[in-house]
This record gives sequence, C-alpha cells and structure tokens, in this order.
Amino acid sequence: MSSRTPYKVLCVCLGNICRSPTAEVVFRHYCDAQQLNIWVDSAGTSNYHPGKAPDARSQQHALQRGYDLSALRARQLTTRDFLDFDLILAMDQENLQNIQHLKHHAAEEYGAELLRAKVALMSEHDPQYPRHEVPDPYYGEADGFERVLDQCESSAQAWINILKTELA
Ligand code: 4NP
Repeated sequence: MSSRTPYKVLCVCLGNICRSPTAEVVFRHYCDAQQLNIWVDSAGTSNYHPGKAPDARSQQHALQRGYDLSALRARQLTTRDFLDFDLILAMDQENLQNIQHLKHHAAEEYGAELLRAKVALMSEHDPQYPRHEVPDPYYGEADGFERVLDQCESSAQAWINILKTELA
C-alpha cells in the first residue's frame, strides 16, 4: 500500500449493524485483493445502535464467506463525514435521501466548497443489481442476510472497477 492519501469510501445504511458493516468489509476485501489505496468505513443515518457490534446474524453469514465483522462498532453519520470522505454510498433510497439532507446541513455548516463527498447508491454501477436497493434484513430471515452479501459483493466489485480507472 502506498503512503499517498487514500481515497476514502463510506458505506451507509440505517442502523450501521447489518448492511453497511457488511458492505464495508466486503469492499475492503476487494480493495486489498487489488492493492488499491482506498480507505473504507461505514456509518448509519440513525443513532439507534451507537458503539454496538454488527448484528450477530450479519456476522455469522459474513463469516461463512470469510468476512470478519467482529471488530466493527456502529456510529452515526455526521456532517464532518462530508469533509473527510470522497464517496458516500447509500444502501437504499431512504438512506440516500437522508444523506443528501445531511449534506445540505454540512454545506451550511462548513461551506459547500469544502465538501469532498460525492453521494451515490451502493448499486449505482452494478450490472447484476442495477440501482437496486440493498434490502433491510433486520426483521427478516436468513435469506435476507445472504442477499445483502450477494449484493455487496456484486456492487463493490462494480465500484472498484470504476475507481480503479479513476484513481489510476
Ligand atoms: P441496517 O439494519 O440499517 O442494515 O443496519 C437495521 C438495523 C437496525 C434497525 C433497522 C435496520 N432498527 O430498527 O433497529
């Protein structure tokens, strides 16, 4: 990994305990596999679960595919994140709207010219799930957690193909 400042990606869902921690670890896995200088983090639009580890079901399903989520802790998205990150990825349309709303507050707080973050859907470039939402698995069954992993793997690879060219 080079010492250049990394490109910074933030994955965002509602609670930061199911979808976005999964997206974070999957995204990082593909960045590391291609030795890309990309920093990955995650956050939630809500403050429902601050400091909590990812949902046990998310951890269990992820581990079956070799992804370890155990060290992650939930946090809420803040206006500062729009200064710090280059790309903020929403898991669904409601998250996208809430992120855009907070971005307006960040612009008022810091000045629009200081904001770095572009905001997009996780599935923006995904050929398999084009602009599909990553469905919230929290109140569902095991297949919902597998679906999150399937979509995160597919969407992360699609983003990495785009970023590889942009960052080259
Ligand atoms: P996430 O899932 O947004 O993928 O982390 C949820 C986690 C918690 C809740 C909703 C969705 N909740 O209502 O507590």
